[in-house]
Amino acid sequence: MSGTSLDGVDGVLVDYSDGADAGRVVAHASRPLPDALRDALLGLQHSGPDELHRAAQAGAALADVYADVVARLLTASGVMPDRVAAIGAHGQTVRHMPPGHPRLQPHEAPYSLQLLAPARLAEATGITVVADFRSRDIAAGGQGAPLVAAFHRAAFGGTGEAVAVVNIGGIANLTALRADGGVRGMDTGPGNVLLDGWCERHTGARYDAGGAWGRRGRVQPALLADLLADPYFGRDGARSTGRDYFNLAWLDAVVARHPGVAAVDVQATLVALTVEGIARAVEATDWGSPTTSGPQRLLVCGGGARNRALMDALAQRLSTVVVDTTDTVGWPVQWVEAAAFAWLARQALLGCSGNAAEVTGACGPRILGAIYRA
Ligand SMILES: Nc1ncnc2c1ncn2[C@@H]1O[C@H](COP(=O)(O)OP(=O)(O)OP(=O)(O)O)[C@@H](O)[C@H]1O
Ligand SMILES: [Mg+2]
Repeated sequence: MSGTSLDGVDGVLVDYSDGADAGRVVAHASRPLPDALRDALLGLQHSGPDELHRAAQAGAALADVYADVVARLLTASGVMPDRVAAIGAHGQTVRHMPPGHPRLQPHEAPYSLQLLAPARLAEATGITVVADFRSRDIAAGGQGAPLVAAFHRAAFGGTGEAVAVVNIGGIANLTALRADGGVRGMDTGPGNVLLDGWCERHTGARYDAGGAWGRRGRVQPALLADLLADPYFGRDGARSTGRDYFNLAWLDAVVARHPGVAAVDVQATLVALTVEGIARAVEATDWGSPTTSGPQRLLVCGGGARNRALMDALAQRLSTVVVDTTDTVGWPVQWVEAAAFAWLARQALLGCSGNAAEVTGACGPRILGAIYRA
């Protein structure tokens, strides 16, 4: 898994032999993206000269990092490649233009593009690769995202309680596991992507460790209201977004209307923006019964769970909900999204659907991914 934060590649080796649908993580490994590759991928977030050539090169380089992560997983676990059924490889999203994207013209086809060279990864590892998970859901009228809801249900559902699972990666997404077994969900808006970009610009650090810098600032209500006025936060129905929408250019355009706000106060306001996007999504969700107006519990995964200021602000905003990380239920926050794509690869090999159509808005369940046999 490599997500919109562009921080690195997270891998897990998952064993499904003991019957638990979500599987059991037996090894994990992470590699940072080399600076040159990170810069190349950032440069490909928007159109530029020779971009097809650069995209192919970046996809190949990313496959090599994925192969390195796989090699580390095998070494750490002592498992031979021929014992691994498949690698679920997400690739790097450089364009996410699902149905309803404001820049999509009425006559244009929706799409979501993840760079990767899956054939190169299959050659390098000798293992079957499943890739390109999003396009089938989009072809079926869905957003192609978020795709983790069905896995979240397998890992965290079935408790009889209403549980919200929130992944705070570059973009944040909510999975609503209803007490009646139903599932809902959406991308709630920016997760870390603006926090990281603003922090790097003003402090040089790639992220605000523990949220310490942002905690020193004060939330600016007028700026927050202006950020939340973006139509994305008020959209009905299935919705998803990406770095090609929520980025520093988007932020700068709003901040320019609020001259004199200190950088640290913008950071504090961005924490509030991520929290408010999540809280509004929780509140807008149909939790399934008149007696269940919301979740009893909210479990956070993804790197944003390591931002203490963000976690505290979330708990404060959703004061009637118990806010925890997935660590507390046996799923370390950094491995959940990677385990979701292992699960999706398994679904593809089994010929089973991977999307939750109620979440993506697709017209029905679909088998996701293209298979590159070993
Ligand atoms: N100690 C920390 N303090 C604050 N923020 C952290 C910390 N550790 C990680 N993060 C944040 O988490 C981000 C990485 O999270 P993660 O890998 O889950 O996101 P991602 O790669 O965008 O994934 P995805 O899109 O799959 O959800 C970092 O960019 C940073 O913003
Ligand atoms: Mg990441």
